[in-house]
Amino acid sequence: MKIAVVGTGYVGLVSGACFAEMGVDVTCVDIDNEKIEGLKNGVIPIYEPGLKNIVLRNYEADRLHFTTDLPSVLNSMEIVFIAVGTPSDEQGNADLSYVFEVARTIGDHIDTPLLIVTKSTVPVGTSFRIREKVKERMRLRGAEDLDFDVASNPEFLKEGAAVEDFMSPDRVVVGVETERARNLMTRLYRPFLLNNFRVIFMDILSSEMTKYASNAMLATRISFMNDIANLCERLGADVNMVRRGMGSDSRIGKYFLYPGCGYGGSCFPKDIRAIIQAGEEAGYEMGVLKAVEEVNNRQKGILFDKFSRYFQGDIKGKTVGVWGLSFKPETDDMRDAPSLTLIRSLLKAGVNVRAYDPAAMKEARKYLQEDIYYATDIYDAANEADALIVPTEWKEFRLPNWNILKKIMRSHLVVDGRNIYNREDLASYGFDHQGIGQKD
Ligand SMILES: NC(=O)c1ccc[n+]([C@@H]2O[C@H](COP(=O)([O-])OP(=O)(O)OC[C@H]3O[C@@H](n4cnc5c(N)ncnc54)[C@H](O)[C@@H]3O)[C@@H](O)[C@H]2O)c1
Repeated sequence: MKIAVVGTGYVGLVSGACFAEMGVDVTCVDIDNEKIEGLKNGVIPIYEPGLKNIVLRNYEADRLHFTTDLPSVLNSMEIVFIAVGTPSDEQGNADLSYVFEVARTIGDHIDTPLLIVTKSTVPVGTSFRIREKVKERMRLRGAEDLDFDVASNPEFLKEGAAVEDFMSPDRVVVGVETERARNLMTRLYRPFLLNNFRVIFMDILSSEMTKYASNAMLATRISFMNDIANLCERLGADVNMVRRGMGSDSRIGKYFLYPGCGYGGSCFPKDIRAIIQAGEEAGYEMGVLKAVEEVNNRQKGILFDKFSRYFQGDIKGKTVGVWGLSFKPETDDMRDAPSLTLIRSLLKAGVNVRAYDPAAMKEARKYLQEDIYYATDIYDAANEADALIVPTEWKEFRLPNWNILKKIMRSHLVVDGRNIYNREDLASYGFDHQGIGQKD
C-alpha cells in the first residue's frame, strides 16, 4: 500500500514513520525545504522519544520517503493524509488556510480516484469543504468526472509519548461515507488491529466532532481540578489527597485530575477556542468551555502571583531560576506553554530569569527574544537565585541535590507548579515550598 502524509510536523512525521514501520510505503510531504532536506540526512526536526530510530530505520529500508513535491507523487498513492497545522486565527477560529492549500494542490493534479483523509484537527464539516475545494480546481481543468473519496481520521497521540500512542492507540476513529473508503482504511489499520485495539467507524461529521469533544473534555477536567485546587488552598484542604479520593471512584477515573499552572501546548488552547467559535456560529453558547478557558487563563498567572506574594510584591531586581520551558515533559513544543506567561510577567516586573529545559531551549529562543539567561543545567539556573519556579515536571527535576541548591541560592523559595515536591521534605533542607492546591 502506498500513502502520502502531507505536513511533516509532530503528527505527520510520527504517523508517517509509524505507518512505514507497519510495512506501508509512505511519502512524507512538507513545504519546508529545510525540514525535508534535514530528514533525508537523518536530522529529526522535533524531540519525540523513540521517533529518531523509527524514522532512520524505515528511511534506510526505503519504506519512508521525503519530498516537497506533492504533485509528483500524488497519483501513485492510494491514500493522501492531510496533517498540516490548524492554528487559531485572530477570532479564535481554526485557520484552515494550510488545509485548503493542500486541497487546491490535490485538485490541480489528481487524476486517480484516491482517498483524501483529514488527520489535522478541523471544525465539523471541513472534510466536505475539502472535497468542494478539490472539485472546484478539478472543474477548472475539466477533470470533474473523476470520482474520489474523503474521510476523517483525527489523531489522538500525545506529544512526549507520540510513537507509543500511535503504535498502540486506545482507539482509532474513522469517519467515512463509502464502502470503498471504509475498506481502504480497514486495510491500512489492519496491522494495528492485530494488536487488539479498536477502529471505530462512523460518519464524517461525528468523527470530526469526536476529536474536538475529546480535547474539550480533557481540558475541562484540568480547569475543573485547578478550580478545586484553588479552593482547597483557601479552605486548608490538600488537593493531592482530594485527587486520590476522587480518582479511585471508577465513574471518575484517576487520569487528568492533576492541578497545575494551566494547560498549554499546540492543541488544547486552540481547539477549545475553535469549538467555542463553532458554537457561536451555530447559534449555541458553549458555556462550560468558555469557563474552562477563563479558568485556564487565570491559572497561567498563578506561579507569578505566588512568587510575588511571597516577597510581598518587592520583586524588582530579584533572580528566579525557571526549571522547565516546554508545555509538558518529553517534548520541545513551546506553543502556548505556561512558562511563557510566567517568564513574560517576571521580565515585566524587572525580575532576572535564568531558565533551563532538557529539550526545549532551542525552541524557547524563538518565543522569548527578551533578555533571559539560558542555563546549562538545573544548578546553573538556580545559581544566586531568590526562588526556583517549576512550570514543567521533567523527570530530572524530581530529585535534585537540595544541599547544593541551598548553598548556591540567595533565598530559598520553591514554587512548584506541578506538585512534584513534598513540603516537609523541602522544609528539612531549609526551603519554603509553595505548591498548587495546598495551603501556603
Ligand atoms: N501536536 C499534537 O500533539 C497533535 C495531536 C493531535 C492532533 N494534532 C493536530 O494535527 C495537526 C498538525 O499538528 P502538528 O502539531 O503536527 O503541526 P506542526 O506545526 O508540527 O506541523 C505542520 C507541518 O505542516 C507543514 N505544512 C504547512 N502547509 C503545508 C502545505 N501546504 N503542504 C505541505 N506541508 C505543509 C508545515 O511546514 C509543518 O511542518 C493540527 O491540526 C493539530 O491540531 C496535533
